[in-house]
Amino acid sequence: MKTRVTKAVFPVAGLGTRFLPVAKASPKEMLPIVDKPLIQYAAEEALSAGITDLIFITGRNKRSIEDHFDKAYELEAELEARHKTELLALVRNILPAGTTCVYIRQAEALGLGHAVLCAKSVVGDAPFAVVLADDLMNAEPSVLRQMVDLYDEVESSIISVQNVPREETPRYGIMHGETVKAGLHKMDGIIEKPSPEEAPSTLAVAGRYILTPRIFSCLESIRPGAGGEYQLTDAIAELMQNEAVFGYEYSGKRYDCGSKLGYLQATVEYGLQHPELKGSFRAYLKGLKV
Ligand code: UTP
Repeated sequence: MKTRVTKAVFPVAGLGTRFLPVAKASPKEMLPIVDKPLIQYAAEEALSAGITDLIFITGRNKRSIEDHFDKAYELEAELEARHKTELLALVRNILPAGTTCVYIRQAEALGLGHAVLCAKSVVGDAPFAVVLADDLMNAEPSVLRQMVDLYDEVESSIISVQNVPREETPRYGIMHGETVKAGLHKMDGIIEKPSPEEAPSTLAVAGRYILTPRIFSCLESIRPGAGGEYQLTDAIAELMQNEAVFGYEYSGKRYDCGSKLGYLQATVEYGLQHPELKGSFRAYLKGLKV
């Protein structure tokens, strides 16, 4: 019988230096896009893919994420007393019944690879997803849904990739491989943050992964790589020595909300689609003299 992907790991323990000072006391994954934090968009995407167990790898400032997904007794009582039924439903239904949340502390921000390894004992011996909430994905069906469906076909690790301009390769993990069919590539190499000259392609890794549990032994064997951090990319390079790994060009739009520009772009575009705001916000933007 096929093993279904039911667990997703959300690494939220990075220092978020590009978002200081706001990331000083609160993880950047709690930044809102209009009225919802990035981490909630990410959780909703995972739920839309049939995932039931959400595993958060948190750092020093974990409280706001735990509180966000926890029951808020006082707030609910207050909203109830004021007959704010819609808002009450909004606060109560952040996660549907049957969803499990687990919080694991990454004591030191030693890198994304190290953060994922922290989930080993909770994930166990099953394929799982990794979701980087600072990559906001706008897609229908969701990018993770597309990948979970693809996993059912290929039963191998799948890394989301997108074509980027060559001058941007130093910002990404870049893959090399053979195209199996349109949008699907069997990987034979991956390198973290190569210069445009040394990049083996322009297919860049985005923040969605489905990984087989073998990744954990690879993560245990790697040494610190680019930036002195334990890189997930290096473990994936090792994984593909032992089993097939696919790069998947998802359909959908990615906003790099780990960067200020990407964050502002997402804010503007989601604002233009927000049911409460879209008319007035569009009028405001049109009237801007820039
Ligand atoms: P980034 O590369 O965006 O790093 O991490 P960062 O530290 O969060 O941000 P900058 O570059 O300093 O601005 C990618 C993802 O991996 C998580 C981050 O929270 C983010 O979701 N991460 C990174 C960890 O959970 N632990 C780490 O040690 C490093």
